[in-house]
Order: sequence, then structure tokens, then C-alpha cells
Amino acid sequence: MKNWTRKEFLKTSVVGGGAALLAGNTRLYGQAGPAKGSANGDIRVAVVGINAQGKGHMLDYANKLKGARLVAICDCDSDVLAKRLADCEKVGVKPETYVDYRKLLEKKDIDAIVIASPNHQHSLQTIWGLQAGKDVYVEKPLSHNVWEGRQAVEAAKKYTKNIVQAGTQNRSSEDIYDAIAYVKSGKVGKIKWARGLCYKPRESIGKSTGAQTVPASIDYDLWSGPAPLTPPRRNSPKNGTVHYDWHWFWNYGGGDITNQGIHQMDVARWFLGEPGLPASVMSFGGRFGYIDDAETPNTLVSVFNYAKAPLIFEVRGLPMKAGMRAMDKFKGTDVGVVVQCEGGYVTIGSNGGAVVYDNDGKVLQKFAKNTLGQHRANFVKAVKDRKVTKGVIEECHYSSALCHLGNVSYLLGKEKANSELAEAIKADANTKDSFARYVDHLKANNVNVDTTKVMVGPLLQIDSANEVFVGSDKTIVAAANKCPLTKRTGRGAFTIPEIKKMAVAAS
Ligand SMILES: NC(=O)c1ccc[n+]([C@@H]2O[C@H](COP(=O)([O-])OP(=O)(O)OC[C@H]3O[C@@H](n4cnc5c(N)ncnc54)[C@H](O)[C@@H]3O)[C@@H](O)[C@H]2O)c1
Repeated sequence: MKNWTRKEFLKTSVVGGGAALLAGNTRLYGQAGPAKGSANGDIRVAVVGINAQGKGHMLDYANKLKGARLVAICDCDSDVLAKRLADCEKVGVKPETYVDYRKLLEKKDIDAIVIASPNHQHSLQTIWGLQAGKDVYVEKPLSHNVWEGRQAVEAAKKYTKNIVQAGTQNRSSEDIYDAIAYVKSGKVGKIKWARGLCYKPRESIGKSTGAQTVPASIDYDLWSGPAPLTPPRRNSPKNGTVHYDWHWFWNYGGGDITNQGIHQMDVARWFLGEPGLPASVMSFGGRFGYIDDAETPNTLVSVFNYAKAPLIFEVRGLPMKAGMRAMDKFKGTDVGVVVQCEGGYVTIGSNGGAVVYDNDGKVLQKFAKNTLGQHRANFVKAVKDRKVTKGVIEECHYSSALCHLGNVSYLLGKEKANSELAEAIKADANTKDSFARYVDHLKANNVNVDTTKVMVGPLLQIDSANEVFVGSDKTIVAAANKCPLTKRTGRGAFTIPEIKKMAVAAS
């Protein structure tokens, strides 16, 4: 638990003194700009960041998705770029290649950009894409921090000729719409709470010897973008020094709540029907079971207090039991959402598919339309229709922001004994329940809960309209607002433009 750079990260915050931008409450996305496309009507697409997730996008645009075609690929790792060009050539496509995203944006005959670079690039690349007159598909999460996500939303409202679709693909899952309608109909009563679950195996990434050399193929200034330019301190056998494991470092990612968890966070918030940020958040957790280079917790509970009902989020990276691969399940779900209502509960799996049970566990209704895989095709449709209906940017902003808020409470936490934590949360039934199961889980992984400390974050109050922390404890509020996961304005040429709030929303 000690081998992280939490204090260093908190010190890197760059917070302007100006008032935070007001959150827009209009959601009129999709405005008729001119129809897009090449002479034959196909939308000309470029994919940015093509190592893993971007490779899937790239190949879909190269030879699968109707009405669109791949015309360019961009990656600041020239080895990745060369490999992906070869992949394209194998399917008979020869896109132009770019190392620098800004050069790609200068190209006039590209209609749409698909962004699958690391999280810390998403907001800036979205804003730059819109400013260059491109439609944008941006992978989840929308942002590395709350403030930059808001700038991306405001950019989508300002540059109304273009559209943005976010990569939270559950929004294309018809079964979830059906399940939400079922709950809204009142058949199982009011929602008591929603729990997002991210029980996903995350092994140690190993321990390196400190600052590592960046492979010569990577333009590390471009790779770092708005994040501080600091050498990688990781070197896992699987991912090396730069790619993928950035998820576990605060400068770039936010751990699994922000990685896998954002999908379940989005579904849980969607069920609650909550259109903004909660009144408060509190988190506890740690990186338990092994010592490695990573900074983010592998075990986290965050409780978000919404007016309607609480949203509780649980992350577990350790298995069901030491030595096993299988993960725990809560009401039959490991990566998913459970929505507890007065007269029953709904479970939603990681790939859609919703089941409603009564409180005795008897199935009342199943929803299995399974259309989540259509999210990319839905982007092509959105570009043609000039209107986004599945993956609205502001929705992704709120769900991304929830992940950041949970992490801010954790980062401001103090190490405490589990017995102290138990005492502090005993009055809250939902937190108590998560805590009791977390203790059993750690014990099953041979973590001594009597001697191992847990990071316990403060209960932070949120001004949802202004997307800032507020409250009477000025020291805590100042620290929370200074945390780079709340606001980070970027670096040099990679400074995030501050976008003035627009009166009318459109994208
Ligand atoms: N929607 C989903 O279900 C889903 C699934 C997996 C990943 N993702 C998201 O996709 C993104 C990429 O994930 P990944 O696993 O492929 O990460 P990765 O680290 O393996 O690949 C990212 C690639 O982006 C490149 N890159 C970095 N900065 C760049 C820049 N400025 N310009 C051009 N290229 C740049 C890197 O060189 C690398 O090749 C992440 O944000 C992740 O959250 C979404």
C-alpha cells in the first residue's frame, strides 16, 4: 500500500483560480450540419490510437461497417503504426498513416475521427477534433478529470456542425432500455439502491527498478500529451513500459473504476435517472495482496449519494480466493449492475442482458435483445443522421466524472485500521454491507484485515451545478478541488482549451 506516489500526484495539480463553468442542463444533441461523406457517400474515418481497442475499430472500418471506410490511422508509436498498416493491407485497405494527431486533423477529406488513445488524451483530442470540423467517436471514459470532461461537453455544444458519440456501448443495448422501462413502470416498486460491480481479475504488474527507458519507436511527448512529461515507472512482462498499464497510474488513468467500471457506473446511473453529479461521495480501499509498481487501488468501494437513491460502486481485482482465477459474484454478477427495488431486483451483465427477480430470487422477466455490439454502426448512423442518440457525450461525462470523484475521495484518504472504518460507517446500511463483504473477500485472499490498513477517504460534498467540491472543511475542500482528477489544465502545447458555456446545447 505504500509504494505509490499519491502525494506527488496531488502536488502536480494545476488549478486556475477562476470559477468553474456552469453545468449545462439542456441536452439537445444532434444538429443538422451538412451531410458527410466521400463521392460514393461513405463516411471517411480515421482511427487514433490503434494498439488494442483502436485495432478493433480500425478493422471494423476497414472491412466491416457499411457506409463508412477507413482512410487514415494515427499512432505516436511508429511500431504500432507499421503493424496496423500491415493488418490493413492484409484486408486490402491502405490508409494514410500519421504519428501526430494534429497533422491528421489538417487533412480536409476526413469526416470522422475515432479516438482510442489512452484516457488522458480523450478530452483534448475530442475538442481538437471538433475544432477541426470532424465528427468524433471518443472511447470511454470521456476524460481523465472532471474539468476537462466538462470542456469537451461544452465544445460539443459550441461546435454544432459536428457530432460526438461516446464509447459507453451499453447505451446501444436495447435490453437495458427495456429493463429501465420495466423498473420505471413501477412493477417492482421504487429503487432503493444501485450497485455497480467491477470484480475483474487484475494481477500484479511487477516491480521495476524506477524510471524506465521509453522505446525509441514512441514519441513520448505526444504520448504524454496533457499529462506531465515524466518517465514511465513500470515494465510489466505483458505490456512493457508504456502501453496499457497506464490505467494503473494517476497521471493517465484511474484504476479499474475508470477502466472497466465506467461501463457499469454508466448503467447504474442511467437506471437511477440521475442527470448530474451526486451530493456527496466517500471511498475506501487499497492495493492489496501484492506489491507492484501500480498506484491505483485494486480494491475500492465508493458510495455516491444521489437524492433518489445511493449508487454504490465496488471494485475487486483479487480473485474469489487466493490461488484461484474465478471472481466473487454478488447476486450472480461479477462485472455488472444490481438495481435493488422495493419488490425485487434487476441484474445487468457486462455484455447487456437484464434479468428481473423478486426478492426471493424468482425470475420475473428477462430482457435479452443484446444489441450492444451495434455501437460502432450506431456511430455511422449518427454521422449520417447528424444526430447522436446512443452515447451522448454529456451522459458519458457524468459517468466518467463519478469515477474521478470516487478516486478523489480515495486519494485524499488516511490510512486507518479496518476496525476504525467499521465504526465510522456502521450507521449506513449500504456501506456496512459492502464493507462486510469486502472484509470476507480480503480474508479469502489471505490479507490480514486486523493488521493491514485501509485507505479511508473523507465524505466530500459536491456542488453538482458547478462540478466542484464544497463544504465547511475548507482544507479538505481546497485539497479536493486541487486534485488533478478534479481539474488538470494540461501541459504546454497540450493545454486543454477552456470553452465558454453555451446557452443552448447542440452537438
Ligand atoms: N469501450 C470499451 O469497451 C473499451 C475496451 C477497451 C479499451 N477501451 C478504451 O480504449 C482506449 C485505448 O485502450 P487500449 O487498451 O487500446 O490502450 P493501449 O495503451 O494499448 O493503446 C493506446 C494506443 O494509443 C496510442 N497513443 C497514445 N497517445 C497518442 C496520441 N497522442 N496520438 C496517437 N496515438 C496515441 C499509443 O501509442 C497506443 O498505441 C482506452 O481509453 C480504453 O479505456 C474501451
